[in-house]
Amino acid sequence: MSYSRRGFLTAVGATGGAGALLATMGALGLAPTAEAATRTPFVPPQPSDFSLTGRAAKKVVILGAGVAGLATAYELGKAGYDCTILEALDRVGGRNWTIRGGDRITELDGSTQIARFSDGIYMNAGPARLAQWMVTMDYCRELGVPLEVFTNSNAQAYIFNASAGMTAPVRWRTAKADVYGYISELLSTATDSGALDAKLTAQDKERLITFLRNFGSIGTKASGYAYTGNEHRGYSVDPGAGEQPGTILGPVPSLSEVLASGVGQRFSFEFGYDQAMLMFQPVGGMDSIPKAFAEAVGKHKIQLRSKVTKITDLANGVEVEYLDKHGKTRTIKADLCVAAMPPHILAKTPHNLGPDVQAALSTPTVTSSGKIGLEYRRRWWETDENIYGGITNTDLDLSVVWYPSYGYGTRRGLVIGYYNNGASQDSYAALSHPEREKRAVEQGMKIHGAKYRDELAASASVSWKLQPHIEGAWVSWPSRTGGYQLLNKPAGHVHFAGDWLSYMIAWQAGALESARKTVSDIHQRVLAG
Ligand code: PHE
Repeated sequence: MSYSRRGFLTAVGATGGAGALLATMGALGLAPTAEAATRTPFVPPQPSDFSLTGRAAKKVVILGAGVAGLATAYELGKAGYDCTILEALDRVGGRNWTIRGGDRITELDGSTQIARFSDGIYMNAGPARLAQWMVTMDYCRELGVPLEVFTNSNAQAYIFNASAGMTAPVRWRTAKADVYGYISELLSTATDSGALDAKLTAQDKERLITFLRNFGSIGTKASGYAYTGNEHRGYSVDPGAGEQPGTILGPVPSLSEVLASGVGQRFSFEFGYDQAMLMFQPVGGMDSIPKAFAEAVGKHKIQLRSKVTKITDLANGVEVEYLDKHGKTRTIKADLCVAAMPPHILAKTPHNLGPDVQAALSTPTVTSSGKIGLEYRRRWWETDENIYGGITNTDLDLSVVWYPSYGYGTRRGLVIGYYNNGASQDSYAALSHPEREKRAVEQGMKIHGAKYRDELAASASVSWKLQPHIEGAWVSWPSRTGGYQLLNKPAGHVHFAGDWLSYMIAWQAGALESARKTVSDIHQRVLAG
């Protein structure tokens, strides 16, 4: 039997409806798949764009070798634009910073740490997780950056809400079993008693109760749909061989205790579009991304330790003044500029872009955030607590403890001992590194006990507000009109780019999407001549 493609699709459409038709077309490569449709389309500039129009690639100076600046140079470079990147730091990546043994961390107060981590141990001080839908995944593929799973949620990790009266941490799985169980019990009882009859048909009620009995692992109608705890909670003695069925973890707290603990308020984190598993990380450290970009751009095009001191828009181009690595003032002229620095740093840089631009650059509020990396001589979270990656959430000032998503089963490992922002972070930022370590360890001992102090080998901390030339973790806009819109357009020959000009602030994907937008704006402008 032979079928024409059209006849086949008509048959699928007739039997399965439009959804099946589209899915089938997708499978045949005839329609975009649902996933592909969610990303803003982007066509990189190409050399042929110029040969066809008779125009020429321009010279572009890019301020900042963070993810946005690097991606801008990378994409413009595909069409032969002559790009130069000025970077104030002595490394590329900006906030994408991976700290390894021997690395130096200098903060604005002049304090310096040298990280004493072992070989193979690293700490992603900035970005550390990628969602599958983010454009960052595409760049990793294109640049050959290998990825592995980053475990963002783990049933074995803990929740600890000390201020809610919890006296010991509880595993995520246990918290979920209790919350889901009691909610299922309540909702089944209410449904069965007719309390929801205005909302539910008899059949809805039956189906809802079927769902709840399964979801919450609750008892039968005869038992009053009682939640009494079950294997979803975990075991105090695991099931074993022979006569060992295991002992389910107990005692089960009361409904009232579960509600008082507030554990359920933690659950929605992992529903977030940007935080849902699976998530990913580059193998060996997040800085593989900027390093791969720098390699692709050409390192000779990136001038490190070059701090921008003045931006002047000219009638037919732009001039940027900077201090080079010898402390000498230099200028560079270009046709166009992409300012890919943080807005609050640009706001401190002299320019002639006008008061509206200055006001816009000064508008976003800067958030403080920071992390401490704690290297341990022994991976006690794996050997003693059976936690392989994931995050413990607390209401302590450390906020979270992250267990490493690499090096499972090896000897040493590095835990993120705090990743906090706002007031909690500010309180750590105000301390010297040894004091930060002491406080983080004291807090962490409330979850993990004395080994958290006794087996510590080395540590390093970064407070983003205190990082030279960066001075913040990310920003937020009071509104997306006004200044935000203004800076999403060029000011004379100066274009802007960065995560702060996207709806994905505090994500590399925001910086990458913004870079793509700016590249498209520039290319259109140049082609329009
Ligand atoms: N992207 C950062 C992170 O995942 C900061 C962030 C946190 C952004 C939560 C949005 C939501 O930690």
